[in-house]
Amino acid sequence: MDSDRSPDVTGHWAGHDLGELVVSAQDVREKVSELGAQITRDYATHPPLLVCVLKGAVNFVSDLMRAIALPVEVDFMAVSSYGAATKTSGVVRIVKDLDVDLVDRDVLIVEDVVDSGLTLHYLRQYLGARNPRSLEVCALLLKAGEQRVEQDLKYVGFTIPSDFVVGYGLDVNERYRNLDAIYTFVGEA
Ligand code: IMP
Ligand code: MG
Repeated sequence: MDSDRSPDVTGHWAGHDLGELVVSAQDVREKVSELGAQITRDYATHPPLLVCVLKGAVNFVSDLMRAIALPVEVDFMAVSSYGAATKTSGVVRIVKDLDVDLVDRDVLIVEDVVDSGLTLHYLRQYLGARNPRSLEVCALLLKAGEQRVEQDLKYVGFTIPSDFVVGYGLDVNERYRNLDAIYTFVGEA
């Protein structure tokens, strides 16, 4: 069994849409603890505001914030860079903005996956214009060799091949976010 929390993670309901296991639930858990410990050390004197990029990063931020032993704050924003397909449109739309002021805050953007990097590039400029004291990124996944924009990522969980993946927050047409592990998607998008 892959996870002690969700016994049905690879259940029959996923049909034949899931390909190879890319990151196991166990590996996700271990990496999240590691990242949490690192962030706890790095931000000990200035606890960050975690900015979760909805919806894909919701599983990640939920686990990550509990792995950080500091009085962090969390806020959410929603952007849309993909339609219903599995390729980036290159156009980023703000669907929900933050509720809090960023002036003089230490902001840590929490992302699920950096693919082309266009979403993050846009977000950095958008949030950077609000004068935070610092602005860094914690991405669970980085797609190897896919970046079309230079990225400076302070924290990266796993570098993975460029295949489209689902699970642990990542979706295809809003499905499979509730898997505890990450798989390639081999169904019809
Ligand atoms: P980018 O702008 O190309 O870096 O894409 C970033 C966004 O696209 C991520 O925040 C995800 O929401 C989505 N995305 C990119 N690759 C995948 C994938 O393999 N599975 C699910 N969503 C993805
Ligand atoms: Mg996303």
